[in-house]
Amino acid sequence: MTAPAGHSPARLEELYKLIAHHAHLYYDKDAPEISDAEYDALVRELSELEKQYPILVHADSPTRRVGGTVQEGFKKVEHLRPMLSLDNVFSTTELESFWGRIKDNIPDNSGFTCEMKIDGLAVSLLYDDGIFVRGATRGNGRVGEDVTENLRTLKSLPLRLKGNFSGKIEVRGEVLMTWEHFNALNEKREVRGESLFANPRNAAAGTLRQLDSSIVAERGLDIFLYYLVDAPSRGVTRQSDALSWLADHGLPIQPAWECCPSLSEVDTFIARWQNERFNLGYVTDGAVVKLDDLTLWDGLGATAHAPRWAVAYKYPPEEARTRILSIDISVGRTGALTPVANLEPVRLAGTIVQRAGLHNGDEIRRKDIRVGDVVRVRKAAEIIPEVVAVDFSARTGETLPPFEMPSHCPACGSEAVRLPDEAVLRCPNRASCPAQLREGLSYFASNVGMDIRGLGDKLAGQLIERGKIKTLSDIYDLTVDDWASMERMGKKSAQNLVTAIEASKSRPLSALIAALGIRYVGKRVAELLAAHFGDMDKLRESSEEELAGIEGVGPVIASSVAAFFHDAANRDLLNRLKERGLNFVSQKDFSDVKGEGLRGKTFVFTGELSSMKRSEAKEKVRALGGSASGSVSSRTSYLVAGDKGGSKLKKAGELGVSIISEEEFLKMLDAPEG
Ligand code: IVH
Repeated sequence: MTAPAGHSPARLEELYKLIAHHAHLYYDKDAPEISDAEYDALVRELSELEKQYPILVHADSPTRRVGGTVQEGFKKVEHLRPMLSLDNVFSTTELESFWGRIKDNIPDNSGFTCEMKIDGLAVSLLYDDGIFVRGATRGNGRVGEDVTENLRTLKSLPLRLKGNFSGKIEVRGEVLMTWEHFNALNEKREVRGESLFANPRNAAAGTLRQLDSSIVAERGLDIFLYYLVDAPSRGVTRQSDALSWLADHGLPIQPAWECCPSLSEVDTFIARWQNERFNLGYVTDGAVVKLDDLTLWDGLGATAHAPRWAVAYKYPPEEARTRILSIDISVGRTGALTPVANLEPVRLAGTIVQRAGLHNGDEIRRKDIRVGDVVRVRKAAEIIPEVVAVDFSARTGETLPPFEMPSHCPACGSEAVRLPDEAVLRCPNRASCPAQLREGLSYFASNVGMDIRGLGDKLAGQLIERGKIKTLSDIYDLTVDDWASMERMGKKSAQNLVTAIEASKSRPLSALIAALGIRYVGKRVAELLAAHFGDMDKLRESSEEELAGIEGVGPVIASSVAAFFHDAANRDLLNRLKERGLNFVSQKDFSDVKGEGLRGKTFVFTGELSSMKRSEAKEKVRALGGSASGSVSSRTSYLVAGDKGGSKLKKAGELGVSIISEEEFLKMLDAPEG
């Protein structure tokens, strides 16, 4: 979602929106769509433009704010001192200007400490009389979340410091997931059919936010400390001594650091670790350069965003050169034919890569990518790397033929079609294309749909290869013995699967609608459809006009839904699912609600509800004609406050929105007003 650069106030506004969007995906959702380097480039562009138009700078500009918001579910912790971020530099020249800005404000150069910049999550640990008493995330820099229980599970975090202490000590550092734990976790998730984490940082963030600390313990997070708060009061006056102090008292510090007397040693450190960092076993994305004499730190102070006594040197995204051996076409759940390059294996940012995404035929033509080409590849936000460009100078041998997308689906042979507004080719054979069935089945079984634990992509592939199933509904006919005959499947796992498949028959209607994998129908739209029709049979007979009239649906979704239910093979599938006893109606207590007592009312939920999940509560509101939203605004009618409600309470209070208890909410459901 990067937009073309343009030096104007309009671009400034555009950048605020873009950066806010990507910061939200990164910090709050743990699901970035762009790489860190692209994000940094946007912030740099913004920072440049802000210098040109100081009058237009937003008070909450991301250049002066530390990212992340307080999540609900954990207690809030106000940091004794704000947890700041770091300014970034991208070249030795920029590093020199960092030094140039401070050197006249300090007596003389007392050297630097260089440490690798760990790509994890900043945390603050509090020890009282030497005992670990509290751990908090950075949150928005001022207020974080109390994740003490989760942090206690980290094997590398000492619960008692070495030595005798009285009073409080605060230390700060980074929680991370090593490559080893990350790969093991993703392998497990793949087997279970769960979505994969894009990178170790997201996995660490997703883990630290688990409300159940036993999950945290199981996943194996690590921590390195790098900051002793109030070091001078303990007689520690240098950052290098602070690191030794931390290590001496049993707190883990990373191995990759050094004292550098002058900038030229700093440059050497940066250059040396540019490649060596990939042997560390954890992700680093730069080097942090700090003034070693930490008694100078307070005097230099900080901007709202970052201290002046340190800076982060960010490495350019790692690229590697390799050759394209062949190009495969993968067929997705919705029939999209996606070209994927098979590469001569090459080491890239700590892992060996053998495949790279090529997006679509237009992209291949634009970059003129051919089989046999030497290309530059780099890690994108996704796990699978992308081809940056062809090295045309290496095209010296025989002429390579241009790559053509196939005219037919490689999995089933159907003629591929290209829809008017799309860049991708699609296989239209939804009903019996084995590749679509495989993808469709693992999606059907995922937690968005029927939530059948253990039925992931690999198992789906095996079932289809062995001819055990021809269509989705066939999984309901398989016996324990059928499942047990699959590779690496014991009798007990087979029995568990059959139980999970049986249980899936009573999933809510919205889950079944989502499980079908209709284009544009994710969890939210499925909930809207379930709330509106209350019955699969009514939904499948509905007209495109009726669908388009549902609030939140619109013409594109309506046409996709109508086309899905018009298709004979899909209708047949629904009949089979019904025959096998899957739940086709909305929950009983709502099937007979005729009134629309909550029409025009908007509900927002905060905290945990004790009687139902938030998603169910929202579905119930919609079933009664109301709407449910994720954030409080002046249009909110009621904020339903569950246990441990968070920042939304404050906002509702400020806006004068009515705050009601879960009990009051339940009463409203029983006897809706209006
Ligand atoms: S020192 C006042 N040292 O990078 C902030 N930070 O992008 C002092 N980080 O917020 C931070 N490795 O979470 C420091 N060796 C290191 C680091 C490090 C990773 C993180 C930290 C910081 C972020 C800024």
